[in-house]
Amino acid sequence: MTEKDFIPSEYKYQIEEGEVTWKSPSNIALIKYWGKEANQIPANPSISFTLNACATTTTVTYKKQKEEGKEFSFDLFFEGNLKEDFKPKINTFLKRVEAYLPFLKKYHFIIKTSNSFPHSSGIASSASGLSALALGLMSLEKELNPEITEDYFTKKASFLARLGSGSAARSIEGDLVQWGAYNGIENSSNLYAIKYPYNVHSVFKKYHDTILLVDKGQKEVSSTVGHNLMHGHPFSKQRFAQAHDNLTKLKEVFETGNLKTFIEIVESEALTLHAMMMTSLPYFVLMKPNTLEIINKIWEFRKKTNTHVCFTLDAGANVHVLYPESEKEEIFQFIKDELVAFCQNGQYICDQIGFGAKKM
Ligand code: DP6
Repeated sequence: MTEKDFIPSEYKYQIEEGEVTWKSPSNIALIKYWGKEANQIPANPSISFTLNACATTTTVTYKKQKEEGKEFSFDLFFEGNLKEDFKPKINTFLKRVEAYLPFLKKYHFIIKTSNSFPHSSGIASSASGLSALALGLMSLEKELNPEITEDYFTKKASFLARLGSGSAARSIEGDLVQWGAYNGIENSSNLYAIKYPYNVHSVFKKYHDTILLVDKGQKEVSSTVGHNLMHGHPFSKQRFAQAHDNLTKLKEVFETGNLKTFIEIVESEALTLHAMMMTSLPYFVLMKPNTLEIINKIWEFRKKTNTHVCFTLDAGANVHVLYPESEKEEIFQFIKDELVAFCQNGQYICDQIGFGAKKM
């Protein structure tokens, strides 16, 4: 599919008003998206586990205006409070998707959104937040044209979410989601994410992610700025090629369930992401001393116990501790005994693989 396929022709129905609620999860990338071109086109393919507990719930109420507006008309509530400072981000998103949702200026929207995870936990809410909003807008499009198929609905929701935030494209479905053109996966696309289409070993069917909140402060460098620093980056070419290679290796791991190689790829991806930050110009470091303490403890424990605990990082100091269901007791005990001490105020979130967004 191309961008043009997401521009609708005339709508069949007139809808005056309505309301819809979506709950959309966050996701954690195993192969990282870092670097992009214009229009939110990723510089390399990525793949993620969809999460379950970390989610955003968004209610979109829409009412047709007497006349089509010149600007977008909406009110935004976050956790019950009117949030003027979130509006520019939503406005940018609406501008980017307007060509694909030509009805936007005909309505006044009330957007009410809340997160399941604590505010300012350092957990990015852009993936869950923008996917939930994209789904809400798609529900209105479906009212206007009920002939839309489920497949088109899902793809376009991911396509729109991507225009808000790249990683949000991977938050529509579960449990393993791939985004970005890649030779080894038929139908993979830069425009939207797809459910990973091949065999996945049962060990990955129930995987845990305990998120250790190491630093809950505002990030010093946003992802958007970080992505842009990949332009003219001395290692970008190798990095983008490496993501393709790692995806090829991961495909085999998903088939065989080889956790040793899984760990190698996932941890290397996390450290490479941060290595790219440290070697950008300007350079920056998002890990904190406790991030490294945790990583070292994980390596020690893994060596000592021969378990399959590993870590990944997103663009921040928090650590995602990944482990299979069969080892959950031993590893969760280790987390409580040895890792929680490195979390800010002892805070962590127990999550696991989830199956995508839900209409409420
Ligand atoms: C490190 O999706 O937050 O989490 O497209 O600019 O909104 P924008 O960036 P964003 O970048 C996420 C980067 C990452 C890796 C990943 O999720 O793949």
